[in-house]
Amino acid sequence: SGFWSYDPAFLATAACESKITYIDGDKGQLFYRGYPIEQLAEHSSHLEGAYALLNGELPTKAQKEEFETAIRYHTMVHDQFLSFFKGFRRDSHPMAMLAGAVSAMAAFYPEAFDFKNAEHRKIAIIRLIAKMPTIVAMCYRYGQGLPFMYPRNDLDYSSNFLYMMFATPCEPYVPNPVIAKAFDRILLLHADHEQNASTSTVRLAGSSGTHPFAAIAAGVSCLWGPAHGGANEAVLKMLNEIGDESRVDVFMQGVKDKKYRLMGFGHRVYKNMDPRASIMRKTCYEVLDVLGKHDDPLFKLAMKLEKIALEDSYFIEKKLYPNVDFYSGIIQRAIGIPTEMFTAIFALARTVGWLAQWQEMIEDPDLKIGRPRQLYTGYAARDYVAVADRK
Ligand code: CMC
Repeated sequence: SGFWSYDPAFLATAACESKITYIDGDKGQLFYRGYPIEQLAEHSSHLEGAYALLNGELPTKAQKEEFETAIRYHTMVHDQFLSFFKGFRRDSHPMAMLAGAVSAMAAFYPEAFDFKNAEHRKIAIIRLIAKMPTIVAMCYRYGQGLPFMYPRNDLDYSSNFLYMMFATPCEPYVPNPVIAKAFDRILLLHADHEQNASTSTVRLAGSSGTHPFAAIAAGVSCLWGPAHGGANEAVLKMLNEIGDESRVDVFMQGVKDKKYRLMGFGHRVYKNMDPRASIMRKTCYEVLDVLGKHDDPLFKLAMKLEKIALEDSYFIEKKLYPNVDFYSGIIQRAIGIPTEMFTAIFALARTVGWLAQWQEMIEDPDLKIGRPRQLYTGYAARDYVAVADRK
C-alpha cells in the first residue's frame, strides 16, 4: 500500500539521511564530515580520517592517542584464526577468503551482536579496523605459502600492514616512509564514499539487526565486483591485455564500439573529475620517483591511455574521466602488491566507511529494516499443473 516509484539501480533515490560524507559530483568535490579530501590527504592520516568519519570531528591530541592506542591493542587475531585460514584452497581469490574471514569474525566475537550496548558497539568497531590489516595480509601470505607475520605495534597503521605483507621471519622489512605515506593516502581516499553499492549493502544487511561483522562481510562481497571495488584489479588486467603501446588505438576503437569498457574511467556520481584521482595521480608520480620506475612499460601505457581518453570526444561527451582506481592500481603494483590483492586493500580502507555508516544507521532511533519494492512483470495467477500433464 502507499505510493512508491520505480527506480532501478537507484539513480534517483536517497535511501537514508547521513551526516558523514558529501560528494558534489558536478564540481568534483568530496568531503569527509565537511573536511575537503584534498586537505585531509595533505595533512591527515587514514586513522585520523577514520576517527572523524566515525565521530564527526577530528580528534584532539588526547583523543587521537587514545584511538590509535586502542587500534594497536587489537591488531592480533585470535590464534584459532590461523587454523580457520588453513581450510581455504591456496589458490582462493583473496576476496573469497576475506569475505569468509570477516564473516568468521562474528563467530569469534559473539558479544558484538549486542551492539545496542554502546561499549560493545565501540569495541566491535575498533576490533574490525585493527584486525582488517592483519586479515588482509593473511589472505596474501596464505596464497603465497608464506608464514603469517604477527603485527608490529611499534609501526603506524600502514607501515604495519606493509610489514605483515612483505617481511619474513628471516628478513626484517622496513617500509620506505614515502611508500608508507602513499599507501596510507590510498586508504584514506577510499575510506568512505557515501551510499555506494557496498555501503548500501552494509546498511541494508545491518538494518535487519544482524551481527555487525556479518553486515560488513556482505559489503566485502559486494565490493568484489569489477564495476565497484574490482575496478583497480580490472585496470591492471586491461593494461596487461593491451600489452603494448602500439595496440592502444585498436583497443580504444573497441571501447567506442562498446565491446568493453575502459576500466578506471567513469563514475556514477563524478561527471567532472574524481577529486581522489587528482590526488592519486600526484601520489603515483611520487611513488614512481622513489622507486625509480618511471620507465615501467605498463605505467607508460597507462599514461598514453589517459592522454588519449582525456582528449577524445567520445570520452569528453560522455563525461568520462579517470577515477581513483585508475591510479591506485598503478601505485600498488609499483609497491609490489599483486593485482589480485587490490580489491582486498580497497576493502581494508572502506571498512572504516562501512562501520561509520552502519553506526550512524544503528544509532537512529527510527531505524526500520530496508525493504525495496518491485515492479512485478511475471505471470498473472494461474493453476498448478500436475507433472504428468506438463508439456
Ligand atoms: N568506458 C567506456 N564507456 C563508458 C565507461 C567506461 N569506463 N563508463 C561509462 N561508459 C559509457 C556507457 O557505455 C554509457 O554510454 P551510452 O550512454 O552511450 O549508453 C555512458 O557512458 C553512461 O554509462 P553508465 O554505465 O550508464 O554509467 P553509470 O553511472 O551507471 O556507471 C560506472 C558508472 C563506474 C559503473 C562506469 O563508468 C564503469 O563501468 N566504469 C568502469 C569501471 C570502473 O572504473 N569502476 C570504478 C568506479 S570508482 C570506484 C568505486 O566507486 O568503486
